[in-house]
Amino acid sequence: MSRIQRRKVTVIGAGNVGATTAQRIAESGLADVVLVDIVEGLPQGKGLDLAEAAPVVGHDARILGTNNYDDTTDSDVIVVTSGIARKPGMSRDDLINTNAGIVRSVVSEAAKRSPHAILVIVTNPLDAMCHVALKASGFPKERVIGMAGTLDSARFRHFIALEAGVSVEDVRAFVLGGHGDTMVPLPRYSSIGGIPLPEFLPADRVDAIVKRTRDGGAEIVGLLKTGSAFYAPAAATFEVVESILLDRRRLIPCAALLEGEYGVQGLYVGVPTVIGGGGIERIVEIKLTAEESTAFAKSAAAVKELVELL
Ligand code: NAI
Ligand code: 2OP
Repeated sequence: MSRIQRRKVTVIGAGNVGATTAQRIAESGLADVVLVDIVEGLPQGKGLDLAEAAPVVGHDARILGTNNYDDTTDSDVIVVTSGIARKPGMSRDDLINTNAGIVRSVVSEAAKRSPHAILVIVTNPLDAMCHVALKASGFPKERVIGMAGTLDSARFRHFIALEAGVSVEDVRAFVLGGHGDTMVPLPRYSSIGGIPLPEFLPADRVDAIVKRTRDGGAEIVGLLKTGSAFYAPAAATFEVVESILLDRRRLIPCAALLEGEYGVQGLYVGVPTVIGGGGIERIVEIKLTAEESTAFAKSAAAVKELVELL
């Protein structure tokens, strides 16, 4: 007799982003969650704590905390958050050497046990880590997705809503390019209730919001002092995971391997993508003005420089 099984998502890294993402996935009831970390006891403790919340929250997803990759076998989605995070004075790029080694090892362990999974990479520097994961997994490019544009766009949307005095629900916004200081928020493709942003807010306010969005990660690091943001990153990661598990085909900005799109060859950069059951179902090319194109090309060049360091 066949039996319908809940889907399985592995989250690697039981730190701030990983544990909060695991919580969101489990509480959605969409999948069982395996939480993995290199530190003994950490994923087990957080996993048990999350499981003990289930009766109150009201879901039946199973949560397993482990240090053993055999427990991740046959996952549908693997989220990679393991690595070190930024501290004050550090850029995302300062993390490259340590995190490349970590991402390489965890992805090769997990990918060989779940050869059909979709990888969602979160570890920074994001775009460079996608290259590491693509190579270490041997997966096709459609199944290696970088999460960052959804976070940067969420920050942009929050700041727009705050400035305009409207609900965040009515704000749509796009941030493209690499997940770094050169990211490209696109006011022209952002809107409030369908009204283009530049028609709603004066140019100097839009410029200030664009700047705050670019510095959004650093603003949180400066306040926290011991690490970087995790509530919004986990929510944004869940948005990607949910779109895969439910084959929602959300049109959201993610880092995807470009092979000619936007005039970029062989680089992971944030672009509008359709995310569904197969991973990146489509890369959507939108028209950019000369100024936007220049900013996008500058951002892609910054990613290239980092990838060459690997
Ligand atoms: P954290 O320090 O709270 O957690 C990282 C976890 O990774 C720790 O529990 C650590 O033990 C674990 N880890 C380290 N090496 C490991 C290994 N070899 N195998 C398994 N686990 C290992 O850091 P946080 O705040 O959760 O951030 C995680 C990463 O995500 C950082 O690189 C951060 O920069 C990045 N990030 C990326 C965002 C994005 O938009 N793409 C947004 C927020 C964070
Ligand atoms: C952020 O943007 C550090 O990438 C992380 O908050």
